[in-house]
Amino acid sequence: MPSWKRILVTSALPYANGAVHLGHLAGAYLPADIFVRYQRLRGMDVLYLCGSDEHGVSVLISAMREGKSPQEIIDYYHDRNRRAFERAGIGFDHYSRTSIPLHHRTAQEWFLDLHAKNILRKRIERQLFDEKAGIFLPDRFVVGTCPHCGYERAYGDQCENCSRYYDQTDLIRPTSLLSGTPPVVREAEQWYFPLGEFQENLERYVESHAGDWKENVLQQVRGWLKAGLTDRPITRDMMWGVPVPLPNSEGKVIYVWFEAVLGYISAAKEWAERIGDPERWKTWWCDPVHTRYIAFIGKDNIVFHCLMFPAMLIARGRHTLPDNVPANEFLNLQGQKFSKSLNWSIEVDTFLDTFPPDPLRYTLTMIMPETRDSDFTLQEFQARNNNELVAVLGNFINRTLQFAHRSFGGAVPSAEGMTDADESFLAGFRESGEAVATAIERFRFRDALQNAMQFARSCNKYFNDAEPWRTVTTDPSRAAAAIYCAIQAVYALGIYFEPFLPFSAERVRAMLNLPPEAPRSWDGASQYRLPAGHQLGAAELLFRKIEDAEIEEVFDRLRSSGGDERPTTIGLPADTKPKTQPIKERITYEQFSKADLRVARVLEAERIPKSDKLLRMIVDIGSEKRQIVAGIGKAYTPDELVGKEIIVVANLEPTRLFGVESQGMLLAATTDGGTPVLVTPAGPTAPGNIVK
Ligand code: MF3
Ligand code: ZN
Repeated sequence: MPSWKRILVTSALPYANGAVHLGHLAGAYLPADIFVRYQRLRGMDVLYLCGSDEHGVSVLISAMREGKSPQEIIDYYHDRNRRAFERAGIGFDHYSRTSIPLHHRTAQEWFLDLHAKNILRKRIERQLFDEKAGIFLPDRFVVGTCPHCGYERAYGDQCENCSRYYDQTDLIRPTSLLSGTPPVVREAEQWYFPLGEFQENLERYVESHAGDWKENVLQQVRGWLKAGLTDRPITRDMMWGVPVPLPNSEGKVIYVWFEAVLGYISAAKEWAERIGDPERWKTWWCDPVHTRYIAFIGKDNIVFHCLMFPAMLIARGRHTLPDNVPANEFLNLQGQKFSKSLNWSIEVDTFLDTFPPDPLRYTLTMIMPETRDSDFTLQEFQARNNNELVAVLGNFINRTLQFAHRSFGGAVPSAEGMTDADESFLAGFRESGEAVATAIERFRFRDALQNAMQFARSCNKYFNDAEPWRTVTTDPSRAAAAIYCAIQAVYALGIYFEPFLPFSAERVRAMLNLPPEAPRSWDGASQYRLPAGHQLGAAELLFRKIEDAEIEEVFDRLRSSGGDERPTTIGLPADTKPKTQPIKERITYEQFSKADLRVARVLEAERIPKSDKLLRMIVDIGSEKRQIVAGIGKAYTPDELVGKEIIVVANLEPTRLFGVESQGMLLAATTDGGTPVLVTPAGPTAPGNIVK
């Protein structure tokens, strides 16, 4: 029997060098928030912590790109992300950050403790040193020729062309991105954490969770274990980060991953200080018998949370290890990976400028990438909102309350005319609630929400079968009993949906006119009855329909900003905006010739429903026919396109736009007014002819 008295929940600390996007939300924040809200409704004592991850090279690079100091960058994104989470209803007890002195002290204390216990090892490393800038170069700060494929702009750790990994000292003709000069190889001392020595301990830990961790997590962790764990460097030569607290360590900081996970602990400390009980963090972090710890993350963080952090906690002793690490896979956006450099992203806060939070939470939960990568499309968001939230859940609540207002003076009517069918409808609440609960406890949030929706559907069916609009004249006591029961169902729905749709749940409580002290527990939800005569609040629509035009506007913004900008170097920022687009990085003829450009003839063209910009075309490229989707619908009508000769990229990776596959791309010139103009051959040619 578990001895848990309380549950500590954390979500991965997002880097404060960018705005959190929908993929982040679905991966590590929304599932945690649902879990936390559910556990609270069960009466469990829960502490939910998060914060900004503010060190590391990624922050430095963003700072250089944006021409700001690292501090300016993290201050901006820390505030922005904190606020975005709040608007999405992510209910952290505390949102901390790793740049605070308390965190620096905590990380240094851990480092010193492990050092004092003789756990850390010192080793000499060969590294690239920028003599002009006077620093050792992090991997992303140096480019050179790939030792494997000869690509000339390969980074220090990995080649973007052949994607192989190597040591930065293996780069041929390296250049520092900081000073533009060639760096030299120097030896540097770093501290290592002997992860290899924890191999057996970690194997036991992981296998003890073989029955309760998710398959995707176990698989990845077992892969690492099988390959054999090796020592990991936990210091870096860098100025930005937590300084290594040992003598003669100037210019060294603790590796970001080593200290970031400790951010969960300093967040607890800061929370404890805030509530005026500074020692309270220990109940959460130093009482493994009574505290259950769940760490929500995305799949790229698995090794750090399932191996590195547990090893650190074991090394330190007497700390709470993760009992589960329900990592999610990735969410894509309209069929493509979220990408900061390609600008292919929808940030949480910009999305919430247009749409309310609950429909977003709803859709992201329904498509949560729990077992494999999944895809967010605006079309599905609209459909789920309109066909499920509006048409099913909102509809039931609305018709019930409207009926009570119209026919029973806005009060809960009498239950006297209840029949067996009504009784069994009420008796069914418990099972519905349990189905949702079981799924949440297994971290199956999609199933959980499906089950909750199933309950909402059964409520609509009950309403339809009872036909109160008919019985209200033929047999008023039957109509009264049906509305009585339907109102109780609204009460229960409000609780079962609360973890998923907290804003709507609150509005349901207002519409039911529940006093603040009205009971609201998961276990009680199936039993609560609002008495006959209880006066209801005003009935409002819970969800509104989302129109095509709204979806299209967001889609247009995404398409026009995404896909063309690709900064690959850390240039100094221009202080004025150039009037024309800067010339992109130089490529060789060989690289250019990889693009297969051909003449094509448009055979068919039609508008894509719900989009005023997108056209679907069938084109003849000589050897075959292709379906191409293009955003030229405002500039051309389908009719005028048929028969035209155009130029297409014939070897482009297919992609999906508005659910339609596009097997290539046509060329169009941009104009100052924004209307695209087709590029067409100036003389006679034929489909399939090469353009070069
Ligand atoms: N900032 C990391 C990322 O976005 C996550 C850090 S999680 C923690 O991938 F362990 F550092 F807390
Ligand atoms: Zn390469």
